[in-house]
Amino acid sequence: MIGFNEETKTFFLNGKNFTYAMRVNSDGYLTHCYYGARVPECDFRYFKPEWVKSFNPGIPDSKHIYADIMQEYSTAYLGDFREPALVPEDERGARVADLSYLSHEILPVKPAIGSGIPTSRGGETLVIVLSDKNTGLSVKLFYTVYDEENILTRRAEIINGTGSTVTLRRALSATVDYYDSDFELMTLEGHHAREKTPEFTKLHHGRTSIGNIRGTTTANHANFTALLRPGTDEEKGEVFATSLIYSGSHYESVEVDESGRCRVSTGINPESFAWKLENGEKFETPELALCYSNRGLGQMSRQYHDFFRNYVINPRWVYTRRPVVLNSWEGMHFSFDRQRLFDTIDALKDSGIELFVLDDGWFGARNNDKAGLGDWFVNEEKLPGGLIAIADRCKQNGIKFGLWIEPEMVNPDSDLYRAHPDWAIAVPGRPAVPSRNQYVLDFSREEVVDYIKKLMYKVISESGASYIKWDMNRPLTENWSYALPADRQGELQHRFVLGVYSLAKYLTESFPDILFEGCSGGGARFDGAMLAYFPQIWTSDNTDADDRTVIQLGTELVFPMSSSSNHVSLSPNIRNGRIICADTRTNIAYGGIFGYEFDVAKYPKEEFERIKADVEKYHEIDDLILRGDLYRGCNRTEGNECVICVVSKDKKRAFATYYQALNPHKQNPRFKIPGLAGDKIYHIAELDVSVPGAVLSNLGICMPRVKKDFASYTLTLEAE
Ligand code: GLA
Repeated sequence: MIGFNEETKTFFLNGKNFTYAMRVNSDGYLTHCYYGARVPECDFRYFKPEWVKSFNPGIPDSKHIYADIMQEYSTAYLGDFREPALVPEDERGARVADLSYLSHEILPVKPAIGSGIPTSRGGETLVIVLSDKNTGLSVKLFYTVYDEENILTRRAEIINGTGSTVTLRRALSATVDYYDSDFELMTLEGHHAREKTPEFTKLHHGRTSIGNIRGTTTANHANFTALLRPGTDEEKGEVFATSLIYSGSHYESVEVDESGRCRVSTGINPESFAWKLENGEKFETPELALCYSNRGLGQMSRQYHDFFRNYVINPRWVYTRRPVVLNSWEGMHFSFDRQRLFDTIDALKDSGIELFVLDDGWFGARNNDKAGLGDWFVNEEKLPGGLIAIADRCKQNGIKFGLWIEPEMVNPDSDLYRAHPDWAIAVPGRPAVPSRNQYVLDFSREEVVDYIKKLMYKVISESGASYIKWDMNRPLTENWSYALPADRQGELQHRFVLGVYSLAKYLTESFPDILFEGCSGGGARFDGAMLAYFPQIWTSDNTDADDRTVIQLGTELVFPMSSSSNHVSLSPNIRNGRIICADTRTNIAYGGIFGYEFDVAKYPKEEFERIKADVEKYHEIDDLILRGDLYRGCNRTEGNECVICVVSKDKKRAFATYYQALNPHKQNPRFKIPGLAGDKIYHIAELDVSVPGAVLSNLGICMPRVKKDFASYTLTLEAE
């Protein structure tokens, strides 16, 4: 709900549990008033905190100082010395902007971003216009409230009405001010095969920042932050989180000033960004989803999950049961020919597996990772009869066919690169920087994106595939385009991301009934914007079940279980050699979109034979994975065990997984099941007992003692 009090000039944005308020002060600035637990409307002018004032510059013609104003969209170099959201540079090189309130309107439906960055779908949207009366530069701030999810989305549009050129040196999505800094900062850190591990940092005076300049979201720092009040855990405590709906270089920082206030800033990373705006042009920032929880991290996750499911992920797919796949990568890598694929597909008949995915290696001279990217033509030597022959073989065996692509890339050893060397991002006169032996195609250029659009359309429509895995396996470097003038090279990264969105939109709209899965060297580009195109994303190249308990739980802190793609692979694990039983590998992969990844010839017979029953079991609970609420019990990042429980919205059904890494030899596993309705009696199928939810949540349950490491149990609960 959005309200405006004319008399006090205060905006109230109310979700079910939160209020976000700002007002136009006596100097005409839009200042932050309040963000926290829901409060009634009031006149905030009674609240007059005093900040450190010495030697702080004053606002011309006013008795106030800039440092006092908690600007909704902050600017720099006038007297607020904290982190700015906006730094516009005029033709003289001056970098100031003084933004005051001009007008506002409440739109019935949230407008989309014209440049094509995906946003959440939404209703009532507050648009506030700020302007610099000295120059004619203006900023539109967009706010949408998602009541039930306690989410507030924010973004900005910067409009150049100055009569001359302005270069944006920084244009963040939002800054959010808090009156204090009594928080711990939580971020999600990692690297390839170790994505999204929670990290907790004590705030200090000055800035704590994360972000990256790799041109894409990465495994290294997720574009997410959460401020946690002391004592916050899964079930209690106040959390203020941000998730940027964007897939390029991003920046997040928390700055504590001399008065102890803090400011959270987030958006496109200014370090790899500059954008030239001609007079009359506008720049649109990506959208930021702010989430407020007064019931700990568990509530934050459930709210983000509902938000992404209901307002970001394509409704065609979000609640649609997904096929259980076997992906060829870990089992075959590049070493396959048609016969090996046929043998695999034949073996899948009646196995329970529903779709076979042919991963990397089917096109051009792609016999290893040194050649072929860009040449999206079937390698007929390897695959006589083309992809359709593979798809047909799948059909004969009663399964579907899926295909891997990596459309943004080119190998120097490819016909595409030989024909168009300038289509790769590089700086002339310097050796191009390789990564996994490949270069990035310059998607800031329309003709490059158009070429790939046509090629991909042809490949997909002729392939017989009903599933596509879209990969992206290197960061951007050099950041220079043949097609951009010197004063626009700072635009390359963002233009690249817009090119990616344009291709993703085109392909997903051209093939609405094909399921697209995102991937980026595992789960690097696992972000809110990608979810608008890909209802599921490959969570990590690490398929070891023990490591996965951390990676999946980190991913599912923000993103729904229905978006996290998890595969059972061979033991010992090809990445770390860990030996884990089939039960646990299966149980951990159940915590999302379930699938397999192994060489049929090497997979133990008894494990292969259990697949049918395991898939059937998955399909008995997959509506919970798609639609349910996730509750985490003890936390794997801090301890030896974890409990994951997914509960239906009506609390009538639940599926709980207990996992214990090392066997402590002391006692049998004893754990509490979170998320159940206290007053319902649940029948636990595996134990054939019926116990009240309140007892299972408070006393818990004892399982038989295990005599191995990496053990797990699953429990299926149904209210009587
Ligand atoms: C990336 C992906 C893998 C696989 C390979 C293929 O690493 O994450 O799943 O598709 O590329 O080259």
